[in-house]
Order: sequence, then structure tokens, then C-alpha cells
Amino acid sequence: MNARFDPSGPLRGSLRVPADKSISHRAAIVAAMASEPVRVRNYLDAADTRSTLAAVQKLGAIVESRADGLLIRGCGLRNALPQHEAIDVGNAGTLMRLLPGWLAFQPGQSFELDGDDSIRRRPVDRIAEPLSLMGARIEAREGRFPPFTVHGAALRGIEYELPVASAQVKSCVLLAGLVTDATTVVEPVASRDHTERILAAAGAPVSRASDGAGFRTTVGNTDELELGHVEVPGDPSSAAFLIAAGVLVKGSRLVLERVGVNWTRSGFLRILERMGAIVLADLEEPGTFLAGEPVADIDVRNAPIEATTVEAPEVPLAIDELPLVALLGCFADGDTVVRGAAELRVKESDRIATVVDGLRGLGARIEALPDGFVVTGTGRLRGGRLEAHGDHRLALLGAVAGLASDEGVEVVGMEAAEVSYPGFARDVARLVGR
Ligand code: S3P
Repeated sequence: MNARFDPSGPLRGSLRVPADKSISHRAAIVAAMASEPVRVRNYLDAADTRSTLAAVQKLGAIVESRADGLLIRGCGLRNALPQHEAIDVGNAGTLMRLLPGWLAFQPGQSFELDGDDSIRRRPVDRIAEPLSLMGARIEAREGRFPPFTVHGAALRGIEYELPVASAQVKSCVLLAGLVTDATTVVEPVASRDHTERILAAAGAPVSRASDGAGFRTTVGNTDELELGHVEVPGDPSSAAFLIAAGVLVKGSRLVLERVGVNWTRSGFLRILERMGAIVLADLEEPGTFLAGEPVADIDVRNAPIEATTVEAPEVPLAIDELPLVALLGCFADGDTVVRGAAELRVKESDRIATVVDGLRGLGARIEALPDGFVVTGTGRLRGGRLEAHGDHRLALLGAVAGLASDEGVEVVGMEAAEVSYPGFARDVARLVGR
């Protein structure tokens, strides 16, 4: 499906963006592992998070849709149902990398996981390695791609230093660590900590320490998880698209209500602040660790922006928003540089190649680096056609580029946006008063 996004009048008003995708996945998985029913309010209703509900139902959880949200009746830590066919993760990388942390400690059972064409190109050796060190066995196509099979076992605790800054890998190891005496994940730079927070809220012994070598998170033996209820905040990564539109489109002022502002997710807002954008929000202090998720209203105005540089330590805190940093760079004064972000190459698409080709096709002056890109701001963007390559963040990037461009953008494959932000065009229409 193609969709056109024409140069826009001011975006004005308040709205709520869709619920957080990362937290929704975790709420469903942790609820499935819990012993008592869990109420989840504001669970994201989008393709990726529907895949997670379908997966946990197959594994034995019961999911009831109630007036005030979902009620998930879990199976308990060690009682996932045996499977005779592959669990379909669809397009959801987070589901594919977190669920094996639970499946790995169902002794005597084997679970195959598979997904769509894009999922089959995404590496799983990054979770196979730590899970194998813990005692599980993983068989993957060519040793590193889906479909893959997790053979459950009695696990032993490990101390694992992440070779790549990845919250998905960290989360997988922490979930598996729930049945070990102690398992520690060491991250040289911080990544999103939603798993730590939800496990702490569910009564698991989780502790966190930081020193010169980075962050150490330890989880210990847990008999059962009890969560009560979870309220999912608005997704800061979905909000980022409207925030960028508000910064770029002349005369805009908009307020996004009840967005998650966990410091491990608000890197994009700090980058925008450096660029001189006017974005007001009560952000959580870096370094905080809570058994819950802070939320705030985000107030955005159009203003001129300056170039900035984003380096490795900031990358995991804004990983899904880096395509938007490239777009903002087109309008900023000077050269905007992103480095230390080679992880972008293994997202739903190779996001260095697709962002650089996509924006260049719209008239941007942008060059790829092996681990990022450099954009020379020209203060404007012509417009044209942008191919989404089945990647939701590319589709949404093209849409925002269209609103801020001179001639509009036709997004080829807009349906990709369904996995995280199904109503984007409708929300834009509301904000421009159409
Ligand atoms: C996610 C972590 C990030 C992010 C992805 C969601 C998560 O991936 O890009 O969209 O929910 O843990 P990595 O942890 O692999 O960087």
C-alpha cells in the first residue's frame, strides 16, 4: 500500500500516542510466566504485540479482553505447554529474542520459533551464545538465523558481558537467570531497562550497580512471579515521529500525553535539546532504577535547529529514533553525525542503508558510514518517493519527511507501520485539523 504525505500546515493540539511496544511485549511475557492473573491496561494493539499474545496463548496462558484492558492468566514459571509446531513471532524481533529466555528452562521440552522474511534475516546467535553457556541448547539455521529451536534444560547462573549493546539480549539472559542462583549481565553502555523494572515489580530479586566498566544487573532465584497489574505508558519511539513533525513543520505546537520518559528511552529528547529544539517534558534522571515506568506530557514547538553528533554511549538510548536524527539533520544548520551505531544494520531493515538511500532519494545530502551516517543540513527537503522495505520505522520516517518537505513524499509500503503505529495518518490529520 502506498500513502502520500503532503507538505503540512501546523500540527496543533494534544493526543495520546499508541502504547509502548517494548513494555507491552514484556508485560505479556512476564504475565505468562506469573502464577497469579495480571491486569494489563493500555496494551499496544498492533501486529507485533498481537504476535506476542498469540505466542503466550499457545504456551498455555489465557488472555481475556476486558473493558479496562487485558487479563492474562499465566502458566507459572516452569509450566509452558509443549509445542508440536513452530511458534510464529511474525515480524517481532523483541518477542523472538525474549521468549527463549523463558523457554530455555522448560527441561525436556523443545520449542521452534519462526517468523516472516524480515525475521529470518535477523541474527539469533546473540541469544544462543549466553543461553548455551547457561546449559540450554539452541539449533539455528546456518548457526545464527531463524527458524531456530530452543531445547530447554536446568540452567546454571553466568556472568555475561554483552558483546553488543542490546536490551533484547540482556532481557533474554535475565529471564533465563530467574531460575539460577545468580545471573549477571554486564553492559558497557546502558540500554533500555524495562525488563529489570517489570521483574522487580513482579517480586524477582533484581539489583543494579554501575561503575567505570558500565552497568551490572543481577537477577536471582525466583519461586514465582506476581505482578498484579501493569499500566503501559505511551511509546516514546512512536511519539518521536510526531515530535519530529512538530519541531519541523512551521507554526506547530503539540502536546503528547502520558508518554514513557524512562531515561533509558529518552535519548532522542536529549539529542533534540542539544539541537536547540523546544521540547518540554519532565524527564527521569539518568541512572534511576525503579520498579515502574515514569510518564510525562511532552510539549513540542516548531523552532530552528542546529546540527549535533551522536556517539556510541548515547546510541542504545535512542536506537529506534536514529533515523529521525538523520531527517532532522537535513533541516539543521551544519553537519549532523551519528557514529557507533552499527546495530542499525540488523534491525527490521539495514537502517543505515535504507535511511541513507531513502533520504537521499528525497534530496538529502547524506553519506553512510560503516556505523552511522553524516547529514549536511540544507534547511529543506525536496520530497519524492521513499521505499519502506517492510520496516515500520522507515515508513513512518517517510511520512514525517513528507509533512516537512517542499513537494510531499509517497511512502511505498506504508502498511509496514502497522506493527507499531497503526493510526499514524489519522493522528496527523487530527493535529492539522482535517
Ligand atoms: C528493543 C530493543 C532494541 C530496539 C527494539 C526493541 C526491546 O533492540 O531496537 O526495537 O524491546 O528490547 P536491541 O536491544 O536489539 O538493540
